[in-house]
Amino acid sequence: MNKTVKSEERQPIRHIAMIMDGNGRWAKQRGMPREQGHRFGVKAFQAILEHCSEIGIEIVTVYAFSTENWKRPKKEVDAIMKLMDHYLSECEKKLDRYNFRICFLGDKSVFDEKRRARMEKLEEKTKDRARILNIAFNYGGRDEIVHACNRLIAQGERYVSEESFAKALYTADSVDPDLIIRTGGDLRISNFLLWQAAYAELYFTDVLWPDFTPEELDLAIEDFYTRKRRFGGV
Ligand code: IPE
Ligand code: IPE
Ligand code: MG
Repeated sequence: MNKTVKSEERQPIRHIAMIMDGNGRWAKQRGMPREQGHRFGVKAFQAILEHCSEIGIEIVTVYAFSTENWKRPKKEVDAIMKLMDHYLSECEKKLDRYNFRICFLGDKSVFDEKRRARMEKLEEKTKDRARILNIAFNYGGRDEIVHACNRLIAQGERYVSEESFAKALYTADSVDPDLIIRTGGDLRISNFLLWQAAYAELYFTDVLWPDFTPEELDLAIEDFYTRKRRFGGV
């Protein structure tokens, strides 16, 4: 039996991370090509981000494209890249719409100079904001860990601690996620935030990402507050 934790015992949610899965199936169910699912997925993401901003979430992380998603047909990958370019333009135009600092998690070096420069410019222009939106794009948890190791080696480190290692990850400026949500019905983490998920609460829903509304997010948050987090203690 789930009982909501008393409000005085509640720890606030600082960081919510989301695996935005199910776009392709959502489109197929409607007789549309998968690419359309991604378009509607961006709309859902915008509504969710707005809601997170309203309810005061400090850090929002979304999994938008994994290091394994390059295996998909070129047509779909191209459509996702085009959506990212469009999103970058929107952000450039409406820079003050949300008070989030934008950080891209993942190896940007695979992108062409133009896209990479735009991503970096957006990061630079928003860098003084207190809240963070992490967009995991060409992100893989294993890639991130290997990348952090190589960074530390290049810096000549001879000893690493959990703290110094965490600082070498793409998420250096974020606290660990309190809640990780996966839509789309699959019960796995698919290479997302492997290090950072150590004590995250996990929430899985069958709802496909384009149907994930702010009300659905509130259900996940409500569920989070029924959990008793022990972090290994009693
Ligand atoms: C998630 O939706 C978005 C990306 C991986 C880019 P999917 O495209 O994986 O949708 P399904 O899981 O095939 O329905
Ligand atoms: C995870 O979804 C990646 C993103 C949501 C960006 P996938 O659809 O790629 O995951 P698998 O293949 O079902 O594990
Ligand atoms: Mg999927």
